[in-house]
Amino acid sequence: MSTTQFENDLSDVVASDKAHVWHHLMQHKMFETVDPKIIVEGKGMRVWDITGKEHLDAVSGGVWTVNVGYGRDTIADAVRDQLVKMNYFAGALGSVPGARFSERLISKMPGMTRVYYSNSGSEANEKAFKMVRQISAQHHGGKKSKILYRERDYHGTTITALSAAGQPQRQAHYGPFTPGFVDVPHCLEYRNQYGVVENYGERAADAIEEVILREGPDTIGGLCLETITAGGGVITPPKGYWERVQEICTKYGILLILDEVVCGVGRTGEWFGYQHYGIKPDIVTMAKGVASGYAAISCTVTTEAVFDLFKADASDPMSYFRDISTFGGCTSGPAAALENMRIIEDEDLLANTTAMGARLEQNLLALKDKHPVIGDVRGKGLFWGAELVADRETKEPVDEIKGQAVVGHCNAEGVLIGVTNRSIPGYNNTLCLSPALIATKSDIDQITGAIDNALTAVFGSGK
Ligand SMILES: Cc1ncc(COP(=O)(O)O)c(C=O)c1O
Repeated sequence: MSTTQFENDLSDVVASDKAHVWHHLMQHKMFETVDPKIIVEGKGMRVWDITGKEHLDAVSGGVWTVNVGYGRDTIADAVRDQLVKMNYFAGALGSVPGARFSERLISKMPGMTRVYYSNSGSEANEKAFKMVRQISAQHHGGKKSKILYRERDYHGTTITALSAAGQPQRQAHYGPFTPGFVDVPHCLEYRNQYGVVENYGERAADAIEEVILREGPDTIGGLCLETITAGGGVITPPKGYWERVQEICTKYGILLILDEVVCGVGRTGEWFGYQHYGIKPDIVTMAKGVASGYAAISCTVTTEAVFDLFKADASDPMSYFRDISTFGGCTSGPAAALENMRIIEDEDLLANTTAMGARLEQNLLALKDKHPVIGDVRGKGLFWGAELVADRETKEPVDEIKGQAVVGHCNAEGVLIGVTNRSIPGYNNTLCLSPALIATKSDIDQITGAIDNALTAVFGSGK
């Protein structure tokens, strides 16, 4: 790494940060006595903080984002070249990178045809919800306006995205919420709600149908699900689940909205998480990995059938999608996204994700053998969770303070991992791992080695 950043005295930065920056998701009382961590530089899988300490980042920027790793000159160059040529015009007009990226993206998503640009995962989901509402108003006489969401899923931070949150601690204190959002049960087999059943996945999907019948099928317009739940505990879908969900959506004419804000663009070893399960969505949202955090971009991608509903009647001045996102017109997003996609292709990162994901799974299962505190290991590609329990028989979750202590130990050892937090009361007990798609064997082993040490330090020596 370059050392230039550290040649200067950055103590003023710490002072400014402490005086003025309101950090996300942080209780700030502690900053009266300790300094906030400030990250100064990143290269590949590693970041350096303001004290010069090196960290191996096993969470891609904390929240599953920097898929191609840090310090990518070619993305910076592509963005710079685009910005000096044409930085912005409102999205009612087109842009060169906007058109080019839409074509590249759609080439990875058979069955989908239209890309609507905005800036964040929350916003991409809001667009999807607005589409359902407008379709309801203009094509179903106001029926089919409700949107189903699932326990443990998260779709964003705005009040309406939070109205679709299956995470009570994210919602707490922010109501009242937007009406017309209805929850369906989670599909985490490890915490089976149905007792002995022949096929848990089908049973969990049937629970969605039960909600539809209770509410009335003609009231429901959309079902919004994370393909693999992220912050709600890294929940991979059980066998049989998606097939049945698809059948149910078709049967009741409900639009299937897949939130791929985390899964999208390579994280699971396919371009999109849903491509592992043969699902045919109507709308797919994505954000984090689209440009790996080099620019703010999110996309709401639809089928032509959905798109057609917004141009059916050109004589009606209200019949098109009357939505705008000012910064959805920034060209930096699609310029960065194009280069991000090129990197994933040219460096064969989907294959690397699959191979390194298999190693990560193997290592985590070995840790589960050694440490009784690991109750369950779940994930796909380079997107994994290890649920910590105080007792394997009862599956009682560990005290969340202990999960955080594991994160703290790894951090002290120079490895950044995550743990679910302020999400599901009593169940913020899943360690989260999402290294960049460029991870090597030794990176993976270093990550699980740090977790091994941390589990021993916090819970004792294992078996
Ligand atoms: C599955 C999922 N959807 C949506 C969002 C919201 O994305 P953003 O923070 O970019 O608004 C997140 C953020 O973590 C997420 O994990």
